[in-house]
Amino acid sequence: MVICISATINNNIVAGQNDTIHIPIVTANVALVIRISSTRDASVIYLGKRLQNDADYASIPINNGNNDYTGLLSSAYTPSGTRNLLEPAIQVIHADGNPSLDLKYVRHQQNTTNQPNGVLLTTIYLEDPVYPFQVNLNYKAYYDDNVIEQWTSIKHSETGVVRLEKYSSANLYFASAHSYYLTHFHGDWAQEMKPEQVQLTAGIKVLDTKLGTRADLFQAPSFLLSLNQPINHDDEDQGEILSGTLAWSGNYQLQFEIDPLHNLRLLAGINPYASEYSLVAEQEFITPSFLFTYSFSGLGTASRNWHRWARKYRIPQGENNRLTLLNNWEATYFDFNETILTSLMRDGKRLGVDLFLLDDGWFGNKYPRNNDQAGLGDWQENIKKLPHGIDYLTNTAEGIGIKFGIWLEPEMVNPKSELYENHLDWVIKVPNRPEYYFRNQLVLDLSNLAVQDFVYNTVDSMFTKHPMVAYVKWDCNSVIYNAYSTSNPHQSHLYIDYVRGLYNILNRLRNKYPTIPMMLCSGGGGRVDYGALQYFTEFWPSDNTDGLERVFIQWSYSFFFPAIASCNHVTTSGEQTLKFRTDVAMMGKLGYDLVVSQLDTDELLFSQQALQIYTRLKDTIWHGDLFRCVSPYRLGSDIASLIYVNENQDHAVWFTYLINNRYRAGSSRPIRLKGLDPTKNYRLQEINIYPGTDNSTIINVNKLSGDYLMMFGFDPMVHSQRTSVIIEFQLTNGVKTLTCFLNNISRYFLIVFYVLIFS
Ligand code: GLA
Repeated sequence: MVICISATINNNIVAGQNDTIHIPIVTANVALVIRISSTRDASVIYLGKRLQNDADYASIPINNGNNDYTGLLSSAYTPSGTRNLLEPAIQVIHADGNPSLDLKYVRHQQNTTNQPNGVLLTTIYLEDPVYPFQVNLNYKAYYDDNVIEQWTSIKHSETGVVRLEKYSSANLYFASAHSYYLTHFHGDWAQEMKPEQVQLTAGIKVLDTKLGTRADLFQAPSFLLSLNQPINHDDEDQGEILSGTLAWSGNYQLQFEIDPLHNLRLLAGINPYASEYSLVAEQEFITPSFLFTYSFSGLGTASRNWHRWARKYRIPQGENNRLTLLNNWEATYFDFNETILTSLMRDGKRLGVDLFLLDDGWFGNKYPRNNDQAGLGDWQENIKKLPHGIDYLTNTAEGIGIKFGIWLEPEMVNPKSELYENHLDWVIKVPNRPEYYFRNQLVLDLSNLAVQDFVYNTVDSMFTKHPMVAYVKWDCNSVIYNAYSTSNPHQSHLYIDYVRGLYNILNRLRNKYPTIPMMLCSGGGGRVDYGALQYFTEFWPSDNTDGLERVFIQWSYSFFFPAIASCNHVTTSGEQTLKFRTDVAMMGKLGYDLVVSQLDTDELLFSQQALQIYTRLKDTIWHGDLFRCVSPYRLGSDIASLIYVNENQDHAVWFTYLINNRYRAGSSRPIRLKGLDPTKNYRLQEINIYPGTDNSTIINVNKLSGDYLMMFGFDPMVHSQRTSVIIEFQLTNGVKTLTCFLNNISRYFLIVFYVLIFS
């Protein structure tokens, strides 16, 4: 693979017409091609399926006909204040007050130095011909996974401060389709990731957030762009789709502009709203990354590209293990003490999970955290609830044989807290106006270094003082109202410096604790992005744990994020059976949040067995490929169905859920499976069967070929009496033996061959 990339590097400058230069940024299947014109303007001339011969990009006609008055419609980074007529990627006011910018190509380089295997970094250096102002466009191509990461760095050497009014991460151009369909994901608390698809029409469609923290509460920074036809949830294997996301945990802005030529301009970056940035000479302003994958075989491929890429390059421990856990939030809320927690830990052990997670409510003394109105920020054990402190709990957990984790919300503060009383200057709040609260709390000013130290120390001392704490759930429940910092000399830097401050803290923590598992939570899924997920091993998708709701919520997240990172907990919420809720939770990282002692004998037995079965399945769920077979978003769909297949295609786990309770709703006909090896024979076995309902006919269904299963299909017989079904696929013994035999034969021939050659 690396060899491929090196070859690409050697060919990367493609000579074109009239002294143009072409810079192809390529992965296995995708090419983004930047043309440098004879006037040294950089434009995106191609984004799509990689051509077999890089030299062909030079044949793409110059400019989009004669109607681009400015020559900037397809700019790779559109400046403003000169001849541009449309939405800019960058807008600046120079130190002398001049509000114009032009950007001309200086040079570029492509190399694999200091990059992980299979990654090529391209940097294109641009400069204003009049002012000493430079912009570098960076593109990282992840070859095998067809993901491209793009960010920009901005710098100048003017005398004085340059004001950055806009500073996009990416500026892409699509000229190949006749229509564009945007699927975006909006929602609110407990309603995360509701997809909505619109056809883009002339003008600009903007997806953005101005919430500061918990930034994705109403809208996720992830989207799907389908070319020429809407996304068809009936068929995940068809269609040309760009799936994009901004790796930034604060205010973002994604703009989709259909230009006068009916082409699409895409601008993605930090939201410039209330965020003019003063840049001093020689300081580098580095934007967050915009990431995209491009698929020519539908949404399924796009998702698998993300999953593989994220596990390999982004999420800590993405290719390793995770801990199953029992959380006490929905079991106790704020109402617990040592005795209750001890018995919950014992329950966790009895259930068979790896870890007990103590949630909110364990801290605060002057203002005890007995509800969400007080105590936030005072990270000392509440002596009434926990008279013997955290160490007592970790020791108890150790004695029971279960690991221990804890909830923190270190970026936030209740006005009723000692932290607020002692450090009012650390709180984000505007002078001369009444405070306004979100969940009775305010946000700490992470643009302040002292506050960064406080937050870092809160988490660090949890680990140093209590070395047996094995897991942290990091919450962030509040948005930023009344944005104002008492210490930041630039109010308009606050939103940006906040997120950078957060990342500084997380970086320091990850340097010291590279492997500790941490859950990213934000009042549910208010902060699920690949900026934060550089530091967190997993995320909490939603406070909505109703099994039926979770099918939809988890489904939407799976377009972008891998199953290993999705914390799915079985709770008592909703009308569904325990089996249904468990089967839904198993499609990601399984956990529990209920009172185990309230389960009856069958429920407990079922849950214990489910965890044992999960131990056998989890490698395929966490590290295998996901194929969604029947979408719950399909019009009139009664079911949702998905399968995970491991890399060798010798093990698969297939989940099907009933999502409609109308009369006779169900699976009713075979579902075509995906991702199997057509040449292999599989044994199908229904698993996770509830005690006493052992009437499944899907017991050791032997020798169905992958070909048959993918072409004809199989009916899991999901209906109102069987609302969820999990079927495990293993190779039939015959095939296993045959495979072994063939492997041995080929090994034998290889040895003979070597002996003959070298003797
Ligand atoms: C948020 C989280 C929940 C729980 C509570 C505790 O709402 O999403 O899981 O931790 O906070 O207050």
